[in-house]
Amino acid sequence: MMELKIQLIPTGEIILPPGKNGENFCHNCKVVASDGVRAMMESALTARDRVGVQDFVLLENYTSEAAFIENLRKRFKENLIYTYIGSVLVSVNPYKDLEIYTKNHMERYRGVNFYEVSPHIYAVADNSYRSMRTEGKDQCILISGESGAGKTEASKKILQYYAITCPASEQVQTVKDRLLQSNPVLEAFGNAKTLRNDNSSRFGKYMDIQFDFKGAPVGGHIINYLLEKSRVVHQNHGERNFHIFYQLIEGGEEDLLRRLGLERSPLQYQYLVKGNCPKVSSINDRSDWKVVRKALTVIGFNEDEELLNIIASVLHLGNVQYGGEEGSACITSDTQIKYLARLLGVNGSVLTEALTHKKIIAKGEELMSPLNLEQASSARDALSKAVYGRTFTWLVNKINASLAYTDDSHKHYSVIGLLDIYGFEVFQHNSFEQFCINYCNEKLQQLFIELTLKSEQEEYEAEGITWEPVQYFNNKIICDLVEEKFKGIISILDEECLRPGDASDFTFLEKLEDTVGGHPHFVTHKLADGKTRKVMGREEFRLLHYAGEVNYNVNGFLDKNNDLLFRNLKEVMVMSENNILTQCFDREELSDKKRPDTAATQFKASLAKLMEILMSKEPSYVRCIKPNDSKQAGRFDEVLIRHQVKYLGLMENLRVRRAGFAYRRRYEVFLQRYKSLCPDTWPNWQGKLADGVSTLVKHLGYKPEEYKLGRSKIFIRFPKTLFATEDALETRKHSLATKLQAGWKGYSQNLFVGLKVSIAVQAWWRGILAKRRAQRRRQAANTIRRFVKGFIYRHKERCPENEYFLDYVRYSFLMNLRRNLPKNVLDKSWPTPPAALKEASEHLRKLCMQNMVWSYCKKISPEWKHQMEQKMIASELFKDKKDNYPQSVPKLFVSTRLNGEDINPKVLQYAVPVTKYDRKGYKPRPRQLLLTGSSAIIAEEGKLKQRIDYGFSLCDVSFQGDVVLQSDHVIETLTKIAICAEKINNININQGSIKFTVGQGKEGIIDFTPGSELLVAKAKNGHLSVTAPRLNSR
Ligand SMILES: Nc1ncnc2c1ncn2[C@@H]1O[C@H](COP(=O)(O)OP(=O)(O)OP(=O)(O)O)[C@@H](O)[C@H]1O
Ligand SMILES: [Mg+2]
Repeated sequence: MMELKIQLIPTGEIILPPGKNGENFCHNCKVVASDGVRAMMESALTARDRVGVQDFVLLENYTSEAAFIENLRKRFKENLIYTYIGSVLVSVNPYKDLEIYTKNHMERYRGVNFYEVSPHIYAVADNSYRSMRTEGKDQCILISGESGAGKTEASKKILQYYAITCPASEQVQTVKDRLLQSNPVLEAFGNAKTLRNDNSSRFGKYMDIQFDFKGAPVGGHIINYLLEKSRVVHQNHGERNFHIFYQLIEGGEEDLLRRLGLERSPLQYQYLVKGNCPKVSSINDRSDWKVVRKALTVIGFNEDEELLNIIASVLHLGNVQYGGEEGSACITSDTQIKYLARLLGVNGSVLTEALTHKKIIAKGEELMSPLNLEQASSARDALSKAVYGRTFTWLVNKINASLAYTDDSHKHYSVIGLLDIYGFEVFQHNSFEQFCINYCNEKLQQLFIELTLKSEQEEYEAEGITWEPVQYFNNKIICDLVEEKFKGIISILDEECLRPGDASDFTFLEKLEDTVGGHPHFVTHKLADGKTRKVMGREEFRLLHYAGEVNYNVNGFLDKNNDLLFRNLKEVMVMSENNILTQCFDREELSDKKRPDTAATQFKASLAKLMEILMSKEPSYVRCIKPNDSKQAGRFDEVLIRHQVKYLGLMENLRVRRAGFAYRRRYEVFLQRYKSLCPDTWPNWQGKLADGVSTLVKHLGYKPEEYKLGRSKIFIRFPKTLFATEDALETRKHSLATKLQAGWKGYSQNLFVGLKVSIAVQAWWRGILAKRRAQRRRQAANTIRRFVKGFIYRHKERCPENEYFLDYVRYSFLMNLRRNLPKNVLDKSWPTPPAALKEASEHLRKLCMQNMVWSYCKKISPEWKHQMEQKMIASELFKDKKDNYPQSVPKLFVSTRLNGEDINPKVLQYAVPVTKYDRKGYKPRPRQLLLTGSSAIIAEEGKLKQRIDYGFSLCDVSFQGDVVLQSDHVIETLTKIAICAEKINNININQGSIKFTVGQGKEGIIDFTPGSELLVAKAKNGHLSVTAPRLNSR
């Protein structure tokens, strides 16, 4: 009896023909002869059983959940962690390093058809990549599963696959490195140890990888979703704060810690010990710190110092202790404030006041009201959360800037999106964060239902095959319960947050009971039956999610949704000198009267946008499963897995896939693979592909109910039909090999005859080659002749002699032009055209210039346009008239030069400090010149001293003489005055002496002389003498 051996490779299985590695299979085949087919099929099936099927659609008992789980179990035991359901990849977390992610493995999957190799995350990555390249459609890979199921690991594997297998130039290599290095940075700041996962992502991440027309990754963009900020100030038992805090403390160099005022022990920091487990054996904070530092360098980060100042200041904030009387809290130690003031770049006493007081506006007056101990602690925590949360968003923006695809010449790129977002979560205590996370998972499930069903249906429709609908649970009802306008939980929560009066978490719960109390997926203690009541607290509501029931405690819902920071704390942060914080806390936020959207509403909107992004792309799915709750390798917890199989909707997915046909393949692929099984299709089928497939399957004995022929694909209903065909193919390969072997034997026996034949063939081939060479030479000579003739007749009218030459010259000019178009509007180069194309060339040049001007103008922002307009006016006024004009050109005009104050552009258009000279004694007085739409105002420390209307004329009775002002920004100031007063033609520039009116007919004189430095003083002759450096750069 012949034996079929299986060689297991960790990624899947390869069925080998008999004999070690198949090297002597021909010999064995000879022995088994004709009944080998049956023997082979049986042993093959047994072998498959042992490692399960690699695609669940091939599972005979496909409606049985037990069979599904058994298949997973068999494969898991053999370290086969990946299995398909059609094109969906199911992945079980092995909790151990498998040798399946090497470069060799990558090569095995590169450019190979999805079904030809065993299931792997690389196959999904490669399939998306190839679809993007061949079909030109943007792709996305959606990775879902509960916390700890392996989503982030899967997304990293995909990224690594692209980084290694895609083509690369030197520039692309930098992008690849940055794409890879963005992970450790984001994980340090956005991941933490939870009870479910030692490296749990506490933010959602959608990453676009952009590919150019050659298929090289050239850029990327990340969108982050709702970071779990509450973790900064509190962690449940057994959990930690974000990794970066521990990394800094464990790995930071001595000098660095000293500068930041930190001690090398997490136990010293209140924010790091709430979960009571600052050290975890599976995490090496010290080495992770090195990795993060290196990654920051690769990303091109140069704000390390400021970033670490912020991280350290959050730790100091956590240690700020309050004392004092119950009603008015005060800070008991100065140490933290001292460090905070330095690290945050703020004034210590202002910060202290903001941490202990609240600013209230009563009857238009601002009052500082003291906070009690509890209020002060929550103000401090709110500040820590805001600082950390905004810094995280800043970090994502920073990474995006470093990943941005900057090459303007090839704007078009294709995209593969990777979604790795927090998985469904159920803890002992679930709060606002779990509510958002689980709502997000509902939305993704909704998308999965829509897209898998839709695409399946579309495929049948496109192929003209009748479709039988399958029943499945549609979780839209739960999505609506959460997000519906006016009636959904988020709307009710927002209403309670915005309502004046005594709104609290409990009034929110009552409102929920009143509004959605009757919903089949919503229960509270009050509404529950006796049995449920026993397991529910009075402060909880329960949602019956698609993935299971979760009780949410309403405590803190309102505060977290409001996410407010006291105004005076915001004011302190706005004044920060830390470069990152100045970008995080915008001055405009203070003047913006509109209340910002609540956290839940912002999250809802961002999810809606995410759904839009995903819907516009071709999706692939990776469904991750967690094998046990104890993060152990080799443990297959059946109950836990059954639960996930259920809520991930895998059985339904399989039923949908199988309701139609288990297997489908394009005609050309099917024919290519199995053509050797039918004499009519072997070695090649010459007719239509559909006829070839039809001939083939008839020859194989397929019954009509077993298959259907669509427009471009064959659909096979039962897996066993495919198995039989596959097995027949195996046998055929062996018999073909036997024939080849026999052929070789015959050939070697007839070697002499063979030699004669080969000599004849060689002679014939040499003749052919010689003829081809002669033909090519003739063509070349003709071309040269025509060219020379054309050159001689080039100045004549177009005629048969010169037409080839003239066309050639035109063609080469246009091609040359295409390669050498001017790069920008300042580039005046243009290839010299031949005489016949002079006019056309001029037209093209103008068009090209117009186009460049147009695209330049399109890119200009309104602010820059305004700046350019002012600079134009300055040029009209001062160019070639004032010595220092050229030095002033690169300096941007600003709207205010008064220290630290913004102006309201509706009222004031410009403000600048000036020196006013008394008209008689020329005494200098520091003043501020303020320009409004109708007048110029001279003020002293906010007090109006003089108003000059722009319409003012000398005949005015109230005319009191000219005003003599000196400004350090004279070009900017005069340009602004000219614009505000609309007096562009009334500016006179005089570099010698000027006369001015002192008042009542008297005149004064100012003399200008060049000198080494600026000097303004009354001269002996009574004039005002101004000595000015000739070429100062002001
Ligand atoms: N393919 C894999 N091979 C080896 N170990 C893995 C694999 N996938 C996951 N793991 C292990 O499981 C842990 C958890 O995986 P991961 O962080 O990817 O989970 P997650 O689904 O992203 O969870 P969360 O929703 O909490 O972020 C990893 O830190 C790693 O130890
Ligand atoms: Mg994760």
